[in-house]
Amino acid sequence: MKKFKRILSILSLGLLTVLIFTACARNNNSSQSGSSSKSTTTKTSKNSSNKNTRTLIVYFSLTGTTKDAAQYIKKETGADIIRLRPEKAYGDYDSAARRGDRERRNNIHPALATNIPNFSKYQTVLIGYPTWWQRPPMIIHTLFDKYDFSGKTVVPFTTSMSTPIGPSQKVIRQLAEKDGATFKNGIRYDNNRSEVRSWLRNLGLLAK
Ligand SMILES: Cc1cc2nc3c(=O)[nH]c(=O)nc-3n(C[C@H](O)[C@H](O)[C@H](O)COP(=O)(O)O)c2cc1C
Repeated sequence: MKKFKRILSILSLGLLTVLIFTACARNNNSSQSGSSSKSTTTKTSKNSSNKNTRTLIVYFSLTGTTKDAAQYIKKETGADIIRLRPEKAYGDYDSAARRGDRERRNNIHPALATNIPNFSKYQTVLIGYPTWWQRPPMIIHTLFDKYDFSGKTVVPFTTSMSTPIGPSQKVIRQLAEKDGATFKNGIRYDNNRSEVRSWLRNLGLLAK
């Protein structure tokens, strides 16, 4: 009988040990899954706080140089991007030059084919264009005719053969301020990426 009791107490001790181990293991698992859901939460909140969700890059480009600039700026900022297209295409370089000159001399604002969705949600608008006769092409005037920039911040960027941004950004500044927007100095993009990055950093728009 005494022997039987000893066996019984050894068995119950064993059972108790198994129960304690199982409980510990379960606890450990649940705390691991808890930590993985926390990291997901952190990731989600980091993504949703992306500061450039309210920044738009809107650009016009005839031969693709300003498009490249705009895409690089998109890469560095994570901002939304949209290309402006005229209702009637400019065609080849020579006819674009003739038409562009006529529009400039006669203050013609060419109709836009592009529609910008949710324009009102953007706080900052980066406007890109090729410099044409020291100015932005007249399609940029149409952009200001069609959309309300009041309360927004407008920042230009341009590409050109050699003309600096000074004369053309003066026009952008006038258009922006006339519409009640805040203007910030832009840049002439010439593939100097570190210059672009530091310009974006100063604007608080560099994503990383
Ligand atoms: C009609 C027209 C006018 C231009 N006027 C100028 C100018 O005044 N100064 C300049 O440096 N480049 C001038 N250019 C050159 C463009 O600004 C330059 O090639 C630009 O990078 C083209 O950009 P895109 O490829 O996005 O159209 C002119 C080009 C065109 C077609």
